[in-house]
Amino acid sequence: MAHIIVVGNEKGGAGKSTVSMHVATALARMGHRVGALDLDLRQKTMGRYCDNRRRYLEGEGLDLPSPRYIELPQIDQSSLGEGENAYDVRLSKAVSELEADSDFILIDCPGSHTRLSQVAHSLADTLITPLNDSFIDFDLLARIDNDGEKILGPSVYSEMVWNARQLRAQAGLKPIDWIVLRNRLGAQQMINKMKMEKALERLSKRIGFRIAPGFSERVIFRELFPRGLTLLDLKDVGVKQLNISNVAARQELRDLLTTLALPEVTIRF
Ligand SMILES: Nc1ncnc2c1ncn2[C@@H]1O[C@H](COP(=O)(O)OP(=O)(O)OP(=O)(O)O)[C@@H](O)[C@H]1O
Ligand SMILES: [Mg+2]
Repeated sequence: MAHIIVVGNEKGGAGKSTVSMHVATALARMGHRVGALDLDLRQKTMGRYCDNRRRYLEGEGLDLPSPRYIELPQIDQSSLGEGENAYDVRLSKAVSELEADSDFILIDCPGSHTRLSQVAHSLADTLITPLNDSFIDFDLLARIDNDGEKILGPSVYSEMVWNARQLRAQAGLKPIDWIVLRNRLGAQQMINKMKMEKALERLSKRIGFRIAPGFSERVIFRELFPRGLTLLDLKDVGVKQLNISNVAARQELRDLLTTLALPEVTIRF
């Protein structure tokens, strides 16, 4: 059985696709077989990222380990059984196709609440939720008082994860290991940073997630997409000396993978 990693957050632009590509490629580079799906059927950022990678590597004559990305198959509506949902069938077909030869399947979710995303969450062995370091993003996880201190109750996204957890429990599946990752951390804004840290710590105990050390705001993350590269590929495409920021970013990725503690994974980069 492949271990399913879902990257989700109903908030747009939190860093899901960036994190998806980095985690999937890191696992592939460490020798694991990785399948990838993109449930944002309109933007397809993850799909385009993988496509850019394939074209770039081909053009350069390079062969670097990469996730195996597939699109959700189209299905014939008339083949659906009564009460069957077309999206559910397409997702489960895609997962079965990848499962046969993957150790991990990475599923990148859209930044909105969709049927596909909801179902994918209930398939997650590991769920990664990137979060911009702002109380606006925090609001999708929990409602908080005016001082940003007291948690008033869970919010839409945590409720969705809670439902997915219930579904898994009913089906006798192992619980979702939920990891929240703070993304685009700035070097300044110390007060906001500390407030967010405290609020997240309190919430993590209450609704049951683990907190990964975050990713800083770094230009490199925005530059890699056109060539389909990740931080880990830079040396293989001829970058001789990584600058300090890139070295630090690699360390952040290493820390994330260490925190994920995925089965049979020994971090080697
Ligand atoms: N750590 C970072 N530092 C700098 N830029 C970042 C970082 N993480 C992500 N970005 C940039 O932020 C933007 C949003 O990232 P990304 O597309 O990965 O988010 P997303 O959650 O997948 O968005 P959507 O909800 O639209 O699918 C992109 O321009 C990306 O390059
Ligand atoms: Mg995305």
